[in-house]
Amino acid sequence: MHVIHISFECYPVAKAGGLADVVGALPKYLKSKGVESWVVMPKFNNSWIRNHQLEHVHDGITWLGEEKIEYNIFKEQGDILGFPIYFVDVPGRLDREGIYIDSESDYGYWDDFERYTSFQLASLDWMKSFSKKPDIIHCHDHHTAFVPFLMAGSPVYHEFARIPSVLTIHNGHYQGWYETGKKELLPKTDPDKEGLLFWNGRLNALSAGLRTAWRITTVSHSYLEELQYSSKGLESLLAAERQKSFGILNGIDTDVWDPSSDSLIVHNFDVKQCEKGKEENKKWLCKEFGLNKDLPLYIFIGRLAEEKGADILPDLISRYLHAGLKGSFLILGTGDPGLQHRFESMKSEHVGYFDAAITYNEELAHRMYAGSDFLIMPSRVEPCGLNQLYAMRYGTIPIVRKIGGLKDTVIDFGDPDGYGVTFNHFNIDDTFHALQRSTTLYSDPELLDLLRKRVMEKDFSWYNSAGHYQQMYKDVIKEIPQ
Ligand code: GLC
Repeated sequence: MHVIHISFECYPVAKAGGLADVVGALPKYLKSKGVESWVVMPKFNNSWIRNHQLEHVHDGITWLGEEKIEYNIFKEQGDILGFPIYFVDVPGRLDREGIYIDSESDYGYWDDFERYTSFQLASLDWMKSFSKKPDIIHCHDHHTAFVPFLMAGSPVYHEFARIPSVLTIHNGHYQGWYETGKKELLPKTDPDKEGLLFWNGRLNALSAGLRTAWRITTVSHSYLEELQYSSKGLESLLAAERQKSFGILNGIDTDVWDPSSDSLIVHNFDVKQCEKGKEENKKWLCKEFGLNKDLPLYIFIGRLAEEKGADILPDLISRYLHAGLKGSFLILGTGDPGLQHRFESMKSEHVGYFDAAITYNEELAHRMYAGSDFLIMPSRVEPCGLNQLYAMRYGTIPIVRKIGGLKDTVIDFGDPDGYGVTFNHFNIDDTFHALQRSTTLYSDPELLDLLRKRVMEKDFSWYNSAGHYQQMYKDVIKEIPQ
């Protein structure tokens, strides 16, 4: 079986969030199950791409309305990621440093539609030239959601009509809404399919893909259920497409995330030396940020965005410290400028108890998972969440809101076989109560040690989830009309 993944991100080539981690790992694990998987992504002008040997494999021409797109396809020569990865070069549109954000201005690009669409059209045009087509085309998020639509609804791509398409929703919050006039830039569509491009009076890339993909997947079961009643206007659409939708939990790449061999952390450890390992890594981290290593250390890693609930942290932390509870806090991430500013100013308000690294730093993230006691994820929405899984692998106890993938992966330590701290509602009282419980837990070294070992031993590797994808591919192939 041969699957082509089309995605705007892939770790370590270009990462903005968890999408990259998934696309950078799933193909490897699918391969170990005998499913040949390729990744196709944009050829950004970033350092990873500049520093790797790429081989030119194809060139072609496609049209974005009246605009002629002369594109090139490159392949990374050594398959060093463990699978073949191909890059779509569209000069003037994709050859920029940032994925979604212009690094000079910190703003999103002005031509999202043209960027995402030229990438998708070039990918499809290239695949048209294959003498042997893939068995499945698997798209990820709205940036690639016109692909299922065009495969099903455009005479230009009629040769793809019998190839099953899969669309995975990693984040239904972003849908690719555009003014209706942009439709003119897409290739000709079958008149009876044209209406599928629009939702609530606008062109909506995600909705077009969801209605035409053969299968929809979401990255956890609970998120799939939540989308039925909360999906930014797509509720009735997702309810109507429920039959072909499946939740498959993400895994983590245990080659990259392994405290016993991770070269990014200061002291390697496995479950047997967990106590010492945590201590050594915490010592480094606390020294680096001027925090007291004897107090429980709480971290937050991620986008400083409303979805992630990062906006509750300033009040939560102040309340905790003003209540006389003893603990320290460390934040890593970028995002909302107002929040960034707030965290910067909190540094001087709580010297010795709070610090923030307002940046993207993969190495520091590894060191924080290794050296902290608790990871806080107060998300409003969490399709899967990978950070709680990384934290657990490094013996850090997750404190999570019971939502989406967090609900599916963390059992409260008060419940049988539990190991994390959970709370139900997104409000300051519930979150604060969870912090209080974890501070009490920290003061019981035996229980803490037991829970650390329990989280480290949980298996959230991709191996199982890749098996679910493989089964889904097999099932959908059976639906190809004979
Ligand atoms: C998005 C979601 C996150 C998920 C990731 C990978 O970033 O917000 O919850 O884990 O995609 O699927």
